[in-house]
Amino acid sequence: MDRVIGIDLGTTNSCVAVMDGDEAVVIPNRGGYKTTPSIVAVTEAGKRLVGHIAKRQSITNAENTVAAAKRLIGRKWNTAPVKSALMTCSYGIVEGPHGDVRIQLRDKTYSVPEISSMVLQEMRVVAEDYLGEAVSKAVVTVPAYFNDNQRQATKDAGAIAGLDIIRIINEPTAAALCYGFGKGVDKTIAVYDLGGGTFDVSILEIGAHGVFKVIGTTGDTFLGGEDFDARIIDWLVAGFQDEHQIDIRKDRMALQRLRDAAEKAKCELSSVRETEINLPFIVSTGRNEALHLQRSLSRETLERLCEDLIERTVDICRQALVEAKLDADEIEDVLLVGGMTRMPAVQRAVTEFFQREPNRGVHPDEVVALGAAIQGAALVDDKHEMILLDVTPHALGIMTFGSYFEELIPQNTTVPTSRAKIFTTSRDHQTAVKILVMQGESKQAGDNELLGEFVLTGLRSAPKGQVEIEVTFEINTDGIVSVHAKDLETQQAQSIQVTASSGLTTDEVQSMIEGAKEYMVERRTDEEFEGAKQSAETLLAELEAMLPEVDRVVGGADFGRDAVTKARQVIERTQAAMDRRDTAALKEQLEQLARTQRMFKGVVARGG
Ligand SMILES: Nc1ncnc2c1ncn2[C@@H]1O[C@H](COP(=O)(O)OP(=O)(O)OP(=O)(O)O)[C@@H](O)[C@H]1O
Ligand SMILES: [Mg+2]
Repeated sequence: MDRVIGIDLGTTNSCVAVMDGDEAVVIPNRGGYKTTPSIVAVTEAGKRLVGHIAKRQSITNAENTVAAAKRLIGRKWNTAPVKSALMTCSYGIVEGPHGDVRIQLRDKTYSVPEISSMVLQEMRVVAEDYLGEAVSKAVVTVPAYFNDNQRQATKDAGAIAGLDIIRIINEPTAAALCYGFGKGVDKTIAVYDLGGGTFDVSILEIGAHGVFKVIGTTGDTFLGGEDFDARIIDWLVAGFQDEHQIDIRKDRMALQRLRDAAEKAKCELSSVRETEINLPFIVSTGRNEALHLQRSLSRETLERLCEDLIERTVDICRQALVEAKLDADEIEDVLLVGGMTRMPAVQRAVTEFFQREPNRGVHPDEVVALGAAIQGAALVDDKHEMILLDVTPHALGIMTFGSYFEELIPQNTTVPTSRAKIFTTSRDHQTAVKILVMQGESKQAGDNELLGEFVLTGLRSAPKGQVEIEVTFEINTDGIVSVHAKDLETQQAQSIQVTASSGLTTDEVQSMIEGAKEYMVERRTDEEFEGAKQSAETLLAELEAMLPEVDRVVGGADFGRDAVTKARQVIERTQAAMDRRDTAALKEQLEQLARTQRMFKGVVARGG
């Protein structure tokens, strides 16, 4: 049976887990860390770096290092989040061919799903190394408040990484699964998930028999730790500006250093009351002198700087309760998920709002991936029985005359769900009807997210009003939308042309899949070569050290001189194979080296 891994593809950190018997376990990466930074970089030599190794070089290679790509996934070029990213990112962002967002690294542009696919691919390799087998199936989590475009783009990222994403589940729901699965929990709970980039609140009813029912979800896909960091950066920049009249933000490397320092200070202030921010030689003045940045930041100041951000999360909690038609005292447990919930002011705000101490039993960084692994196992194996009922976070509808939004499926409807609507022709012999499908809560269509343009084509030729087309709008368990249509009189399925409003075409995804495959082959070959090279270098060093002694003992005899000459030839051939990066030849020489080494050892032992 295929193993299914669970991946929490985070804004800041990603985590992968798998079911081991009846228990979900997090898989550590090669460095032994249970989470991997969601950071991708391209080096000067064109080499791709992902994770910790990419993070470590992010200051010196700021322009070619992408962090927090999740904030851009599935977004349109012309939107506020993208404009804000343009202001603060150290890497280049350009408009893509479909009004989407592309990222410029060195001489190549990448789509956002491509960047995310590199993180997914890395998590896949972490799992494969640990399990010792190939992995092709995954459950991937997304913020509950992600719309269809963001979900589709995440699915594309999976496909590019060669992963069959068998289900997309919402992050807070995954956390609840991990909390309640197999534990006979029977409670109404709230999940407060404040991560690096996004905020979600979900309210769930968990039944003792493994039923997990989401009753409501709200959130903000542009609210998270990054915004807290930005407040500290603004504060540092303003202070520096006052003192030296220099805007340090203009220097990309300085900006990256500020970003690192701000995050570090923020994390430290969760356990201490005051911290020192020290950035020597942050910028040089026009007069060739270097300036240092040194300031101390107190927890109180941080809390003041971020007060409104925390307040926004509380407002969203309030809204979640209204939509779930519950009072705060009806919530029996509150889960804190996401690294930002380590901040004392966040914990205080949650405790105050829900009037109870939050649950401390779940690991804020790991619980989402663990939940995804549990869901993955349940999908392929009926041993792990449970029923998961999630909801759609946004209303689905169409644009009507006058740019109004007509809601067809309300927000917080349990998925999967569908709704049919009948369209009629308004002109004689009309052969096409255009439908604009959107998601959102506003009555004004323009304020909502356009998912796509669906054009019903090749309609029967008839007087106006006589052709009736039934269009079915469907949201599946992944929260992904699809549309079908049929002619009511002929019962014939009607073809639909879909113009995705953002994101990638099927052809683009296909060519990116090929690119990713090639990369994996290259990477595996590279690893194989590096492994062989390391063994060869060790053997070579040992042989070189033994040669003089061997020469002394047997060099007087013909057979001895012969053996030494042969050994020198093996060494040369090994060197040549290493220079050519020829793995097969190198492996062959490895055997020869080992044999020579055994022989030499025998000679030295006898001679000494
Ligand atoms: N001790 C701490 N105090 C305050 N903040 C912290 C602490 N530890 C981590 N964080 C912050 O938590 C955030 C990362 O959280 P997490 O790893 O849960 O996010 P993510 O899953 O990558 O993002 P998202 O779920 O939004 O996509 C970062 O902004 C990080 O600075
Ligand atoms: Mg998260």
